[in-house]
Amino acid sequence: MAKTLLRVLAGEAVWPPPVWLMRQAGRYLPEYRQVRAGAKDFVELCLTPDLAVEVTLQPLRRYGMDAAILFSDILMLPYALGQGLRFAEGEGPRLPPIRDVAGLAALDPAGVPGRIAPILETLRRLRPLVGEATLIGFAGAPFTVACYMVEGEGGEFPTARTLAYRDPVFFRRLIDLLTTATIDYLAAQIEAGAEAVMLFDSWAGLLAPLPFRRWVIEPAARIATELRRRHPGVPMIGFPRLAGLQLGAYAAATGVQGVGIDTAVEPGLASQAVPPPTALQGNLDPLALLAGGEAMQEATASILAAMRGRPFVFNLGHGVLPPTDPETVATLLRQVRAG
Ligand code: CP3
Repeated sequence: MAKTLLRVLAGEAVWPPPVWLMRQAGRYLPEYRQVRAGAKDFVELCLTPDLAVEVTLQPLRRYGMDAAILFSDILMLPYALGQGLRFAEGEGPRLPPIRDVAGLAALDPAGVPGRIAPILETLRRLRPLVGEATLIGFAGAPFTVACYMVEGEGGEFPTARTLAYRDPVFFRRLIDLLTTATIDYLAAQIEAGAEAVMLFDSWAGLLAPLPFRRWVIEPAARIATELRRRHPGVPMIGFPRLAGLQLGAYAAATGVQGVGIDTAVEPGLASQAVPPPTALQGNLDPLALLAGGEAMQEATASILAAMRGRPFVFNLGHGVLPPTDPETVATLLRQVRAG
């Protein structure tokens, strides 16, 4: 019998649905904070297989999640391309910004295999350890990763989004470079043991319709098509966060097996926009999980009611928030598993 998450991504309406949570390994878990305190910094944690394997498995041990997502970060690809990356304590990521074609020439795509080797080693070690959980590899989508590379930090990315209009030659080259690098990176993750892959386009919803098609849909379609060619049978989940009414166009153009839906999406409407056999994944508000109690119960019940009978993976609409109580996560899992 195949793993439940893989059955859902193959179009089956498994009930109760498989469940995992974005950022299920992270600061809300005391056992994560303990490992994190022993690593030099966050990048070092991602690049040390002993530690990355351990924190990937922590939420499986505690909750028996149906998926293990590789512990890494979407910004490890810019790191692997030779752009400096550091996580300033309490401030989020910092990269030396790249804003012109000369900046692109300084990147080192030939160095990627060497720099991602420890990440692939983490996957190779995880695969025999995940049991009935599905091992998910991931990457950031080209647009979201480009936002950080151009801006040099998080936020609303005013420089990156303006530059996409002002210097389309530069932006096109950056997106193309990232599309190619992402295909190779995800293919390498599959070859190292990932059973499914997820593409995080966290900032897709910042785009107007024309750039959405150009910088979100087209690159995701290229990535999905090429991965299907290289690794037929390995499913992909696309997560174009805040895509709103463009969700259907994204699903149709990419042919992904699963579509992640964010907190703002009405589940019934998503179900119409993305019909079976494509699976949906989401979308409990991380704040409802933080609050717990009746608010969480009501929100969870309404998602389950809307998704019953179609291929569905229960998840959040965005990542677990650090102040979340680990006990509340256990309560959530009990409700989902009761169907
Ligand atoms: O989901 C998982 O458990 C797997 C690991 C994972 C991380 N980041 C670990 C992480 C995944 C899949 C990501 C994806 C990621 N990273 C995204 C896309 C999803 C999303 O949240 O929108 C983005 C935009 C990033 C970039 C990023 N990484 C930021 C902005 C930050 C700093 C802010 C923050 O939440 O701390 C990170 C750091 C990061 N990535 C942490 C973790 C566990 C916290 C690091 C720490 O321990 O201090």
